[in-house]
Amino acid sequence: MQARPKEIQAFIDAARVLFAAETLSEEARALAVEVFSRLDQHGDFRFDKRERFPACEWLDQALEPYLSAQDAFGQVARSIKALEPFIGWFRRTTVANASDNFLEGHANGMICGPGGIEDRPDLQLGLLVMKPDVRYPDHSHPPEEAYVLMSSGQFRKDRGPWLSPGIGGGIHNAPGAVHAVRSDDNPLLTLWCLKM
Ligand SMILES: [Fe+2]
Repeated sequence: MQARPKEIQAFIDAARVLFAAETLSEEARALAVEVFSRLDQHGDFRFDKRERFPACEWLDQALEPYLSAQDAFGQVARSIKALEPFIGWFRRTTVANASDNFLEGHANGMICGPGGIEDRPDLQLGLLVMKPDVRYPDHSHPPEEAYVLMSSGQFRKDRGPWLSPGIGGGIHNAPGAVHAVRSDDNPLLTLWCLKM
């Protein structure tokens, strides 16, 4: 079996550090432990060039502050940049309470998971980039999910108040919980992980 390419391993190693931070809730960290332990085994790899979406143009600006950082944020940012042409970009097409600019204003990128660079059915590890002033739709899904922020931005769950966890903070969404995210006057970048 093919070994995991080092750019993907570097991304996983650094993302694992970000998802272990005490700035995240215990539930978020516990989910991440399970996701990353599954990642000790690798999946199949696909390095074909992917369709990109308009919001991908905001990725460079969101990564730029980290590119020379010698910490896990820096390693995540450099890995994303190296992997970018092969990321499995996709967009959500439901629009419940989303801003009008949502479709053009966001792109989800699968790195590990169905349709990702490491294509596998048992988990998802990827990112969301949004241009400024975009509100992602209210949505829910059966798997629980954790996010960690690499920019400013706000999360909301269960129709509660909007929360600003700050860079390195995040949120945990229980199975089926309704949640949303929105950018402020900066582009938003967040990592997410789910266990399928
Ligand atoms: Fe979600």
